[in-house]
Amino acid sequence: MLRDMTRADAAQRITELREQIHHHDYLYYVEARPEVSDAEYDALMRELRELEASFPDLVTADSPTQRIGGAPTDIFKPVEHHDAMLSLDNATSPDDLREFEARIGRALPGAAFTYVCEPKIDGLGIALLYEHGRFVRGATRGDGRVGEDITPNLRTIRSIPMVLRGALAAAPVIEVRGEVFMPREEFARLNRSLEEAGTPTFANPRNAAAGAVRQKDPSVTARRPLDIFLYHLSRANSLGFASHWDVLEALRAAGFKTNPRAERCADLGAVIAACEKLERDRDALGYDADGAVVKVESLDQQRRLGSTTHHPRWAIAFKFAARQATTVIEAIEVNVGKTGALTPTAKLTPVELAGVTIRNVSLHNEDEIRRKDIRVGDTVLIERAGDVIPYVVQVVLAKRPEQSQPFTFPSACPACGGATARAEGEAYWRCLNSACPAQLKERLRHFGSRRAMDIEHLGDSTIEQLVDTGRVKDFADLYTLTSNEVAELDRFAEKSAENLVAAIAASRTRGPARLLNALGIRLVGERVAQVLAARFGSLERIAAASEAELADVHGIGDEIAHSIAAFFRDPTNRRLIERLARAGVVTSAPVAPEGPKPLAGKTLVLTGSLPTLSREAARELIERHGGRVASSVSKKTHYVVVGEAPGSKADDARRLGVTVLDEAGLLELVRL
Ligand code: IVH
Repeated sequence: MLRDMTRADAAQRITELREQIHHHDYLYYVEARPEVSDAEYDALMRELRELEASFPDLVTADSPTQRIGGAPTDIFKPVEHHDAMLSLDNATSPDDLREFEARIGRALPGAAFTYVCEPKIDGLGIALLYEHGRFVRGATRGDGRVGEDITPNLRTIRSIPMVLRGALAAAPVIEVRGEVFMPREEFARLNRSLEEAGTPTFANPRNAAAGAVRQKDPSVTARRPLDIFLYHLSRANSLGFASHWDVLEALRAAGFKTNPRAERCADLGAVIAACEKLERDRDALGYDADGAVVKVESLDQQRRLGSTTHHPRWAIAFKFAARQATTVIEAIEVNVGKTGALTPTAKLTPVELAGVTIRNVSLHNEDEIRRKDIRVGDTVLIERAGDVIPYVVQVVLAKRPEQSQPFTFPSACPACGGATARAEGEAYWRCLNSACPAQLKERLRHFGSRRAMDIEHLGDSTIEQLVDTGRVKDFADLYTLTSNEVAELDRFAEKSAENLVAAIAASRTRGPARLLNALGIRLVGERVAQVLAARFGSLERIAAASEAELADVHGIGDEIAHSIAAFFRDPTNRRLIERLARAGVVTSAPVAPEGPKPLAGKTLVLTGSLPTLSREAARELIERHGGRVASSVSKKTHYVVVGEAPGSKADDARRLGVTVLDEAGLLELVRL
């Protein structure tokens, strides 16, 4: 039928499809309230792609099909900013804010000021250019005067509209500024998968976002979970706007994502309260914010206040208390992970950091130690950004002891003394001894963990003893343990031994997805395991699949397919699966028929700990029933599920009038 279509018909249908897809992108990525299922959305995309393939001259850069298609570049073209992208002056106390108001009062005698207060996002400043409502160019801040053209990379961020709506769509040229960032949950997920792949992880969301935005290959950026908030319209004055608040509303109406936490403040007292509230809530925002930005609301006053060469006089950044501290590295320990990777950890003189005592910090790998030249005895600056694990920012060289020596990475496995190797392009040294007890202990720990086989009572000291006494040499050995054997271990009585054996027995029915994750196959984590189990139904069928068949599954790349195939080719691993199955561990499940989707199109936010469901289980339940879990509450949120010790999200829900549920209410919604 495609062939029968005239060019004019195709052009018209292409326009319709693009409008529909832009609309659904907006609902999904900006408003977080999709109206169609993934399948319906995919069908629209497929039809558009087919039409564009038949009529290639109708492809335009702002077509939704082009979000991921850009060709890799070697260099980014320089972009001169029409108006410099300035930085902000800092305030660190309410007094500094009062001083700010006094200063602007002196510059505009007799004026009364109102303000807008918004989170200062710790991301990357960027500028987006639209001509007649179409996205034409995006650039980094660079040195403020000249940035880099990263248009293809920014196109991959789905919350950036390619086509504007509303009044701003008609303007010949507009420039909008904002901050690209990586949400914390996505950052944690990305690091988990990098870790599984044996590649170096990112220290914080900002570094991860910066790396993604400056990728030479936009298809890599496309795979990174980036988001954006827009907060500035250049030359808004001449576009007829009177206040910053009006600008934010116009940006929102044009399809941009603006920060729902932006707040209008009638006077400086309200500003101080808003800044302090944001600081209290910073961990619950879902992204890193290092302060609050206070802006004079009136654009006319902004224009009259003007800028210095460095910053606008009409705005100031209220910096949140630093979550950095200095302490001393007492030792560097190297441990063996479940895949044999040697990971160095610094033992610190305990130090208090944002309410938590920090004793250890991961140094990631050899290169990281070398790059930062971290040595035993060094005083280091450590930082804890958001709820992210702490890391070493830098060594305080002025305090380095005179006799200090660079750290030498061990050449043998610190656990078994076996040989180690570091493969080309790999970040980690690995212990090559597959019987290394330290590796086995780590693998058992992972096997029994909550997201894997969830074996209660299988704690670290039990694992230590089971391995050290030779009772457990692989996962299958767990299932043949008797309570008499367990009772012989230290700190076990008859009752606790029976409890452990019962807990192990209960894990038999976790099913193939959990089991697959539990096996600790390189690159196979929770998500990949779920995809594979849903597609193949059993471990036996996954084991029998060819590498090509595995790579054919949506969401499974070549590298993952290779790793899985290699695992199941190994006779030892095949025997292990047979022995697990013989021990009664369930290795297959019926490929689940699609159930009803009572939460289709609904966005939920979770806060606090629920009485029975873990965070992951709740998310899984919601997604299985067609819902989406968002990290922060907005007017578009349908339900906020509140547990014990909820964060500020519960307050947000009440403030915005969003329905609040407890766990029972959630279960009621999905009728379980
Ligand atoms: S306003 C002239 N608002 O902070 C307007 N900046 O230190 C200046 N930033 O370069 C920017 N969140 O990249 C503004 N809500 C926000 C912001 C924000 C983060 C960044 C921005 C800027 C830097 C200034």
